[in-house]
Amino acid sequence: MGFDDGDIAGKPIIAVLNTWSEMNTCHMHFKVLVENIKRGILQAGGMPVEIPMMSVGEIYTKPTSMLYRNLLAMEAEETLRGYPIDGAVLMGGCDKTTPGLLMGALSMDIPVVYVPGGPMLKGAWRGETLGSGSDVWKYWDEWRAGRLPAEALREIEDGIARSPGHCMTMGTASTMTAIAEAMGFTLPGASSIPASDTGHQRMATQAGRQAVENVWNDLKPSQVLTREAVENGISIDMAIGGSTNAIVHIVAMAGRAGIKVELDEFDVISQRTPLLADIRPAGRFLMEDFYLGGGLRALMNQIPDLLHLDCLTVNGKTLGDNIFGAEIYNEQVIRPRTNPCATSGGTAVLRGNLAPDGAVIKAAAASPELLTHTGPAVVFNDYNDMAARIDDPDLPVTRDSVIVLQSAGPKGAPGMPEWGMLPIPKKLLEQGVRDMVRISDARMSGTSYGTCVLHVAPESAIGGPLAFVRDGDQIELNVPERRIQLLISAEEMESRRAAWIPPKPHYHRGYGRLFLDHVTQANEGCDFDFLHHDGEPTPDPEIH
Ligand code: FES
Repeated sequence: MGFDDGDIAGKPIIAVLNTWSEMNTCHMHFKVLVENIKRGILQAGGMPVEIPMMSVGEIYTKPTSMLYRNLLAMEAEETLRGYPIDGAVLMGGCDKTTPGLLMGALSMDIPVVYVPGGPMLKGAWRGETLGSGSDVWKYWDEWRAGRLPAEALREIEDGIARSPGHCMTMGTASTMTAIAEAMGFTLPGASSIPASDTGHQRMATQAGRQAVENVWNDLKPSQVLTREAVENGISIDMAIGGSTNAIVHIVAMAGRAGIKVELDEFDVISQRTPLLADIRPAGRFLMEDFYLGGGLRALMNQIPDLLHLDCLTVNGKTLGDNIFGAEIYNEQVIRPRTNPCATSGGTAVLRGNLAPDGAVIKAAAASPELLTHTGPAVVFNDYNDMAARIDDPDLPVTRDSVIVLQSAGPKGAPGMPEWGMLPIPKKLLEQGVRDMVRISDARMSGTSYGTCVLHVAPESAIGGPLAFVRDGDQIELNVPERRIQLLISAEEMESRRAAWIPPKPHYHRGYGRLFLDHVTQANEGCDFDFLHHDGEPTPDPEIH
């Protein structure tokens, strides 16, 4: 390798786990960024070793990147275990990479610092500001309704990604990096810095230096991710109007630290936490505005009483130290506590005979008039069925219908893809309908919006009640009362359950088979059952 003792002797070996690849659009700048991190490691007297990781790009991974979050987590854990590594810098950003890398690091439990990839600059088109994902869905519907020419759609495609970085709405990427910061895994303020801001490179270099220091101080992830730190993550998820996907990921990350989080805890914290970030898709602005408006530190400093300020973070200081004195510079983007966007967070947890183990809805991104709604079901057995029939002019659907998608959960899809923002039927789009109640066991992109009930558990593919819904059944959604109910008798439900035939599994071998055999349900975080922290250290085999 060309090293001698001067390179290595007595120096902490710091792995830089890099999720760069040409299939991950959000991490295109990581080839350059990694050099900043390595420089910081060298400056602090460490020895950097860059190790490529599976990149799990959101855009191109099929059938869904969620299928591979746990594979990335296993790869990160076993890489940190298998090589002679003292500490690590984790480079992620695109949706699944933040939880995947942190889950692996938590299980291995050696000192780490997380470097979030940073959001893109704002999108622009014909004088309009464009937000990742959200404006794709919006203009895609306009194009489907015949109100936008294909040429304009192409211009939008060109203008929506002006720089390196991850989605710059409050999608899953921005949500998860903010949560990583609130939990204490990044340097202060790191998650808000746009990828192409020079401050991002400075942060990366500082992270390299910090990783070396953390090895000498033996500051481990298990000291950072306490129950209180998990609660900080949930509180910030609510205060920023974060993606519903965060619920699945937080439960999974906490599980790696041996902390059990119930779905209802999200609802409790949601109800006491004001929504302070006016960021799309629930709000008006984008992450670049958020950064210039003061960033996450300023937001956190508005709600110190709702956070556990004595939690330790990876810079060796407490969360309270890190947010002390942080100010808001734009009170439209980051609202002061006295003038929130909403007095409670945007996510609600629903229960009822349709979701005995829970379901979630991002109420902040739904139509207020649909939050209490009863209507007849229009059922699709799976994604292909929906794709084939949703625009059929003869589909018996009206604006009052409730669209139901089955077989879209962790095992059924498989991988619980982001199919939850089910398309509005074309004939209704042409009538001006832009939102309807939609229900599935899928997830939804953090950049999506609409009255979409998600994460229904147990999922339909394992015999959850969603499997028994039929066309024309009345379904009641009552978000204020946190209820989702299939309005059929208990006897009818049992008779449908008895007649139900389970679907054939999607995989018979390989990773897909491992996934189907061991993935847990949405309310349990969709981690593999054998990867939960069980209180026992994973043995480090002595091989001579
Ligand atoms: Fe990577 Fe949105 S596609 S964050």
